[in-house]
Amino acid sequence: MSKNYQYSGISSRMKASKIRELMKYASMPDIISMAGGNPDPVNFPFDDVKEIINKWDKTKSSIAMQYGPTPGYPPLLELLKHRMIKNRKIDMKGQSLFITTGGQQAIFLTAKIFIDESDIIIVEEPSFIGAMAAFLSNGAKLAGVRLEDDGMDLAKLEDVLKKLSGEGKNPKFLYTIPNFQNPAGVTMSQNKRKKLYDISLKYQLVILEDDPYCDLYFTGSPDKYLPIKSLGNDAPIIYLNSFSKIMCPGFRLGWAVADEEVIDKAVLAKQSLDACSSSFGQVIAYDYLKNGFIDNYLEKMRKVYKGKKNLMKQKIKEYIPDSVKSTDPEGGFFIYLYLPDGLSAEKIFKKAIEDKVAVVTGDPFHTDPNIGDKHIRLSYSNSTDEQICKGIEVIGNAIKSFI
Ligand SMILES: Cc1ncc(COP(=O)(O)O)c(C=O)c1O
Repeated sequence: MSKNYQYSGISSRMKASKIRELMKYASMPDIISMAGGNPDPVNFPFDDVKEIINKWDKTKSSIAMQYGPTPGYPPLLELLKHRMIKNRKIDMKGQSLFITTGGQQAIFLTAKIFIDESDIIIVEEPSFIGAMAAFLSNGAKLAGVRLEDDGMDLAKLEDVLKKLSGEGKNPKFLYTIPNFQNPAGVTMSQNKRKKLYDISLKYQLVILEDDPYCDLYFTGSPDKYLPIKSLGNDAPIIYLNSFSKIMCPGFRLGWAVADEEVIDKAVLAKQSLDACSSSFGQVIAYDYLKNGFIDNYLEKMRKVYKGKKNLMKQKIKEYIPDSVKSTDPEGGFFIYLYLPDGLSAEKIFKKAIEDKVAVVTGDPFHTDPNIGDKHIRLSYSNSTDEQICKGIEVIGNAIKSFI
């Protein structure tokens, strides 16, 4: 007998992520997957985690295994606040910080507390699929603004804001990933960061600044990649970060910094979602930061990812025709390919998968899927050097077969 489940309107808007679907290829034997954006599994800090846990006394063990306060494990909150001041140059006066279940939950909670049905959210075109899904499933309409080599096209953004304002509409917020963007690997210039801050002030436009890759820069110092939020707290900016790329995603930990009233609302929303993020993960994360394990790990991983990126760029030069342009990220996990007219990302994907190489076509990252068929995202973070060499050769051959 068929059952008559009466699903909510919201659940009908939920779509399976194309990347999650592609993960089924990633788990097939012999597949080289450049599709997901997973961190390098070979170098997870598992030994550090074992060392940390082995030193716990009874008190610490029981905190780790117990429910915790919704905003997070207090010593970790304090430590992260100091790191935000010292490393990200964020002024914490009047600001609060809370721990979330991954950066993804921080995005979802922001959507939950701001979005009403049909509200407009401005996103970079292309943007992070998990964020777009969170906005859409909370009822938003997305307005995409093209990403240029140095960040969002801000002249276009002002046009969009003026047009919307003429129609009596105010976007609820703008979502940006200023450092080593997912999916395009682009970094926003200092000049654009200042301009975007001014636009935020001028239009009272809330900015949701997502910064999970900031510590994985390849050259220079972190000061080159300071967040928009470091420019001041007059503009309404909500800053997000995550432990997924600086420790591991398995603990599902992220955090958000914003005006106290915003964090208070988000914490209320979190209470009914999961009550608290993993206490076990938080106590480990505290020791991992406090005892300096993170510094060694990041120093190593910056070199590892830089090596993988350089190798992938070299192989792109060798195997992929010049008519295909590619980004050259200054950090993070991703290279984006821009295909010339006449080529279809979908067709290249299908050809490459026959030879057991998986990539992601650009369509899920775009508000207009037709634009996305001109793009391919390559992730080097999760592949070995051999896989990068073989994978790019296969993709190059797939592209050439359509030229
Ligand atoms: C830009 C961006 N934001 C947020 C996330 C979510 O990460 P997590 O929930 O693992 O912290 C990701 C993950 O890939 C990401 O690329």
